[in-house]
Amino acid sequence: MPLIGPKEMFAAAYAGHYAVGAFNVNNMEIVQGIMQAASAEKSPVILQVSAGARKYAGQTYIMKLVEAALAEDPEVPVVVHLDHGPDFDMCAACIDGGFTSVMIDGSHLPYEENVALTQKVVDYAHARGVWVEAELGKLAGVEEHVSSAEHVYTDPAQAVDFVERTGCDSLAIAIGTSHGAYKFKGEARLDFDRLEEISRRLPEYPLVLHGASSVPQEFVEACNQYGGKVGGARGVPEDMLRRAASLGVCKINVDTDIRLALTASIRKHFVEHPEDFDPRAYLKPAREAVKNMVAHKIRNVMGSSGKA
Ligand code: G3H
Ligand code: 13P
Ligand code: ZN
Repeated sequence: MPLIGPKEMFAAAYAGHYAVGAFNVNNMEIVQGIMQAASAEKSPVILQVSAGARKYAGQTYIMKLVEAALAEDPEVPVVVHLDHGPDFDMCAACIDGGFTSVMIDGSHLPYEENVALTQKVVDYAHARGVWVEAELGKLAGVEEHVSSAEHVYTDPAQAVDFVERTGCDSLAIAIGTSHGAYKFKGEARLDFDRLEEISRRLPEYPLVLHGASSVPQEFVEACNQYGGKVGGARGVPEDMLRRAASLGVCKINVDTDIRLALTASIRKHFVEHPEDFDPRAYLKPAREAVKNMVAHKIRNVMGSSGKA
């Protein structure tokens, strides 16, 4: 199957009250682990590439890895997506380079500037048949080019105005999630009333949840047990993500959990096999750890198993 856009994928997810996992990719082992999981679970999948990943691996390498993934697992429906596109030029470069979906992240800009920038990307993308995700509201925490000390939750009325004026195809909203491994100081809490209201005002419209890693404690504990220092890391409980998926959230973003699974596995290997220095010896179980984590997530959090 060639690369596809998210249109049918999200329409089916919306109708079926499940979500498609959007997993961040940075190298071959991560692509392979995600694709093996999607293939085993017969699930659609989104491989997403941040500006940092694109810089690290290079767009050509990333696209060749995606090409290899499609050849190895032709039965898996795959979207390749730019995550947190910082400006028009990067979105255009990804669209020209074969991405089937891009995110333009103007969430840090004043409202009218976010609208104008998103409109510009939508015009370029739609003329070339490419999907556009935009963001309204601010997640607390730090991303490469956006940092915010406080959450600024998405305003439901403004979300309708934003979608109507920009023509963006999906919208990332802020309801209490944040990027990284330290999401909640006290009890985990998402603003489901707000999500319901946004969903009610934008019927049939796909919403996106960023900062949606669950930070499984088994990986945190393994990291710490084998020499790491990731104390106090907390994520979004899985049942909350399932609930979001039943309320119009069609895309759930996961990066931190991949990092934790990979790092926990490598740390454990180094402690248990200090004599090893062949990268294949520790990257093979690390890839397997990514596969197992993603398969669990597809089955128990996204609910997208068997939907390929
Ligand atoms: O939203 C942020 C993603 O986790 C990507 O992170 O910019 O470090 O690649 P990155
Ligand atoms: P996490 O840091 O929760 O994995 O979020 C990833 C994300 O939103 C990528 O855009
Ligand atoms: Zn994000």
